[in-house]
Amino acid sequence: MEHLEEEKILSYYKERMTTSDSYKEEMDTSKSSLDTNGILIPTITVVEETGSTNSDMKAMLLEEELPEGTVLLTDYQTAGRGRRGRQFFSPKGCGIYFSILTRPKKEAVDALVITTHAAVAVVRAVKELYDISLSIKWVNDLFYEGKKVCGILAEGKWQHPKLLYCVMGIGLNLFTPRGGYPDALKEIAGSLFGEYNAEKSDSVNRNKLLATILYHYFSLCEETEVLEEYREKNLVLGRTVRFLENGKEQVGRVKRITDKGELQIETETGEEKILLSGEVQFVESKEDV
Ligand code: BTN
Repeated sequence: MEHLEEEKILSYYKERMTTSDSYKEEMDTSKSSLDTNGILIPTITVVEETGSTNSDMKAMLLEEELPEGTVLLTDYQTAGRGRRGRQFFSPKGCGIYFSILTRPKKEAVDALVITTHAAVAVVRAVKELYDISLSIKWVNDLFYEGKKVCGILAEGKWQHPKLLYCVMGIGLNLFTPRGGYPDALKEIAGSLFGEYNAEKSDSVNRNKLLATILYHYFSLCEETEVLEEYREKNLVLGRTVRFLENGKEQVGRVKRITDKGELQIETETGEEKILLSGEVQFVESKEDV
């Protein structure tokens, strides 16, 4: 498997920019150069291994004012973190684990909406490069063939009402480690390309993959119609789900994903609930199966 390399990622990123329609339009009028066509050029740092790229980025932010588009990427996390204090299994050579620093320009931008950008960016990149269609499980888990292949952890800092920054952590499983996932994950976790083998892994260009995800992420920041795509790919619409409200379990049917990315659910007793965060579990009902 090739090494993750900043230079290569940037070069693929710039190459991808030149094939975008907006870039072509700008270039036709000779008004633009690579870094002024509206999409930012990220600042990428690769580390061989670390505890957690999200934790590292947050620690760096305490020390310095990092710019929008700072990206920290690694091949292996020893203490990868998931939502709700869970661990995120991040074995070496089997995936990409990275954090993107986003500083929304608009006042009172909705954090939930930015996280939908990350999900849609990964969906677009994986489709573009491998012709694989991923599904999204609200809020931000990506599924392939019934298994979770990507998790997203967004951690922000607010100065009310402005979101000062958001560290968008993304972990994408490319290969299932030899011998499979640990028991606790066996039923849940999956990967894009199945069990690791050297030959398969040589054919996957992780630098290009990362560049393509970043390209879509930063282009989506400029687009307003991301939610439509997010809804289309979502597994939850119309499904009966279980969720927690103030620690109490509730069951309801998902009616829609709002324009802020929230989940609107009608409970069994006909009450309407709006979820801004958290997780839902599918409940099999007659209509679902
Ligand atoms: C989840 O599935 O609950 C979210 C998982 C997020 C994992 C990514 S990997 C890169 C970044 N660093 C972390 O420690 N977590 C995120």
